[in-house]
Amino acid sequence: MFALMNAPGIIIAIDGYSSTGKSTFARLVASALGYIYVDTGALYRGVTLLALRKSFIDTAGEVTEESLKEELKVVKFEFRFSEVAGRSELFLNGECVEREIRSLEVSGSVSIIARIGFVRNYVDEILHELGRRKGVVMDGRDIGTVVFPNAELKLFMTARPEVRARRRFDEMVQAGESPVFEDILRNVNERDKIDQNRDIAPLRQAPDAILLDNSEMTIEQQLEWLGKILEERWNLKLK
Ligand code: DC
Repeated sequence: MFALMNAPGIIIAIDGYSSTGKSTFARLVASALGYIYVDTGALYRGVTLLALRKSFIDTAGEVTEESLKEELKVVKFEFRFSEVAGRSELFLNGECVEREIRSLEVSGSVSIIARIGFVRNYVDEILHELGRRKGVVMDGRDIGTVVFPNAELKLFMTARPEVRARRRFDEMVQAGESPVFEDILRNVNERDKIDQNRDIAPLRQAPDAILLDNSEMTIEQQLEWLGKILEERWNLKLK
């Protein structure tokens, strides 16, 4: 008898607007399938942290691109799984930078870094390497359109701007901040505009991506919805 080979797994590309819960959803899906989860935004954040630390971004938001390009030739980014956190964390030259890449300073500069062509190529190379072994869930803005245009399954996540702003508002209140709802809503709309209108790899729904509008859905409903698709098409079960 031939031993049953393990299915090689598929690539699931999850793109979409900010604050649609992509990473929470992607992480749960990966864990339910025993797949690797890759937070691609973390790499753009990591390169931004590097640029800030080396003072390659000035106060006007100008980037010393040549220096950053040289630096990227010698640094090492890697994801390592943390048993304590129960998730992968980003390391820069052996240092865990997971917390720092989520800081306001990095969040404020990441869109400047994410629109630089050689930065995108650099990140894409890492992502291609991670996607080679299949059995991967990646979330980002251009995974199904640019990074893995042949991904077996592409999802595009959206929700009404008011719903996304409300989620961010609630998160900030929980973190002890006192946000103004209208400011957050304006920021959500501005980020949409920047993400959709940049020259390289703008945020777009791939023609073959399935739209998931989770404005009125709980996370359990989203998982149930995806579970049906995975089972019907690939006989994959979420555990
Ligand atoms: O998902 P996030 O907020 O961590 O993403 C951080 C930034 O990186 C955000 O400005 C969008 C950008 N990004 C991108 O351009 N392409 C990706 N595949 C992922 C993130």
